[in-house]
Amino acid sequence: MSSSPKKDWSATQYLKFGDQRTRAVRDLLSAVPLTSPTRIVDLGCGPGNSTEVLVARYPNAAISGMDSSSDMLSKAAAALPGIDFVKGDLTTYEPPPGTDLLFSNAVFQWLPGPARIPTLARLIKTLPSGGVIAIQVPDNFHERSHRLMRETAADGPWAGILSKLNPERDPIAAPVTFYNELKPLCKSVDIWHTHYQHVLEGPEAIVEWVKGTGLRPFVDPLDEGMREGFLEAYLERIAEAYPRLHDGKVMLTYPRLFLVAVKA
Ligand SMILES: C[S@@+](CC[C@H](N)C(=O)[O-])C[C@H]1O[C@@H](n2cnc3c(N)ncnc32)[C@H](O)[C@@H]1O
Repeated sequence: MSSSPKKDWSATQYLKFGDQRTRAVRDLLSAVPLTSPTRIVDLGCGPGNSTEVLVARYPNAAISGMDSSSDMLSKAAAALPGIDFVKGDLTTYEPPPGTDLLFSNAVFQWLPGPARIPTLARLIKTLPSGGVIAIQVPDNFHERSHRLMRETAADGPWAGILSKLNPERDPIAAPVTFYNELKPLCKSVDIWHTHYQHVLEGPEAIVEWVKGTGLRPFVDPLDEGMREGFLEAYLERIAEAYPRLHDGKVMLTYPRLFLVAVKA
């Protein structure tokens, strides 16, 4: 379980790869079996990129976004002025009455492992019969990109600081665990994985990508000197682990787990 000190997200860093990150939003939404939901909440809406896709698909629904980050919420409000964005925490958030679609792209992985399925179950119970919850989470604990974060953390002057903080997120539960825990509440629970293969300019771009997300708990607690040292050591490992492609670029493999559940 992660216990690193809290530092706010950077919407600007996150949006550096906005197009690639938002592809999973579209893939998740395409599997939502509702033609005209009445009220939708984008849980962990970030800078509003996922909310924008919801608005385009369901222009007649009442849509709102919630997030725990002030920086993300102000970017979202500027991008989509007509939409209501509220600050909240997923673990305690209560959707407005009548909400029949809860959508959450790339957020549940930030909850401590033991809180994820209970939070999903609690939110499902707020839905009407036939209501839907749709989530996507990166499932990359065993990927080179994430294994090398742990290796770098254990090998350098920052090792003492980081070993106390345990910065790695808990791995994502197995699909059978999600199914067994949620199916008693649901008519259907559809789960699948997609492995995205993102072609990026070079190893530096892989580091830039994870700096906006998974690397944050490792580098946020360090002072500037150590942070730079960590990033250099990590980049060196990444450059070795991701060989250049035919055109000099690199391929970042990014597995994601999708879950779409319909309330009984
Ligand atoms: C990776 S971004 C996803 C943004 C957007 N949904 C998308 O599809 O790109 C994760 C977001 O989850 C938010 N978040 C993390 N933990 C949260 C929590 N406990 N409650 C609400 N939001 C949370 C972060 O502030 C961040 O904006």
